[in-house]
Amino acid sequence: MSDSWDSVWRHADIATMANSGDDGFGAIHDGAIAIKNGRVAWIGPAASLPKDGIGPHTAVHDLDGGWITPGLIDCHTHLVYGGSRAHEFELRLNGASYEEIARAGGGIRSTVTATRGASEVELLRLSEKRLQALLAEGITTLEIKSGYGLDLENELKCLRVARRLGETYPVRIRATLLAAHALPPEYANDADGYIDLVCDRIIPAAARAGLADAVDAFCEGIGFTPAQTRRVFEAARKHGLPVKLHAEQLSNLGGAALAAEFGALSADHLEYLDEAGVMAMAKAGTVAVLLPGAFYILRETRLPPIDLLRRHGVAMAISTDCNPGTSPVTSLLLMLNMGCTLFRLTPAEALAGVTRQAARALGLQAEIGTLEAGKTADFVVWDIDRPAALAYQVGLNPIRQVVFSGRPLPSQTRMR
Ligand code: NIG
Ligand code: FE
Repeated sequence: MSDSWDSVWRHADIATMANSGDDGFGAIHDGAIAIKNGRVAWIGPAASLPKDGIGPHTAVHDLDGGWITPGLIDCHTHLVYGGSRAHEFELRLNGASYEEIARAGGGIRSTVTATRGASEVELLRLSEKRLQALLAEGITTLEIKSGYGLDLENELKCLRVARRLGETYPVRIRATLLAAHALPPEYANDADGYIDLVCDRIIPAAARAGLADAVDAFCEGIGFTPAQTRRVFEAARKHGLPVKLHAEQLSNLGGAALAAEFGALSADHLEYLDEAGVMAMAKAGTVAVLLPGAFYILRETRLPPIDLLRRHGVAMAISTDCNPGTSPVTSLLLMLNMGCTLFRLTPAEALAGVTRQAARALGLQAEIGTLEAGKTADFVVWDIDRPAALAYQVGLNPIRQVVFSGRPLPSQTRMR
């Protein structure tokens, strides 16, 4: 086997997002990345690139400017679902609140009916449209939650669709079991009974089938209590699965601190998070996943406590929360913009939120999220003059090239 590299990409500026330095981007000006076996073999200034790595079979790409970033990571989505909730959007604009609609049997439950009614193939077709929109913006890793099946058969069906998407498209998928998302109609008035089903049957079955990489829950007045969430986390722990939590989205139930107690990868939403919760997250290394799309669509006015998160050194990720109710969003670039305009993140924090910190929120920081020697070669070449342009422009997609696991993807289709 030859020692020379498989490919070299050079003469673009690189936002490595590693040890971010003074500029927050870990920038290398006029840089080069050498790839071997799908991993970054060397990265640094193009002028220092060792000449002996380039052999007769090395594909050399001279980029002539632009910026390279790590492949983008959307670390919180509910991408697999049936139906649409455009009607509820209308109801909300006519005065109903998200909680009122949910309590009247709409909301998550209406998506559950449509998802249960869809076959696996139909769900795949519906989901891949949304996936394609995300891929077109340079997403190379995506988390997908179940949570619209709410029984054994349908939760596993959604997780299988998530796995299938990862086998069909050039993207790394992490699947999260979110069976404790809402109370299914057959358990109305028996939330504890449903949690028994989740803990005794659904989590074990998903773990056994290798269909889940993590377990999530919705800890909220219209979701599950902290005591019920604790039971879900205990079951996840028993089956060796890390946890995440929808916490403090509409009220403060102390969910983030509970998640931290279980060493959660992330606590997500967090508009109602208080300082005690922030401190618990900081201590546990739990990432705060901020979801500006849901904040925007629900016309939330209470901001997540960004300054407290900063002050206590909690890592902040950003994600689309792609779902039919609170965030029918398939643009992570738009979330970068909203992370800055609505949440006042800096462009460097926002870009870290969809790269380095998003990788941590998935437990994948050893593999992806920054561009460093030894990591998987997932990256994007953009036609921009500085990284802040990714958060600044709305509606223009400045993508030039995506490289996934060392492999350049065809620019138009991004299909396998
Ligand atoms: O992340 N908060 C709970 N779950 C989703 C919304 C689900 C829905 O409305 O369908 C969220 O906001
Ligand atoms: Fe969500």
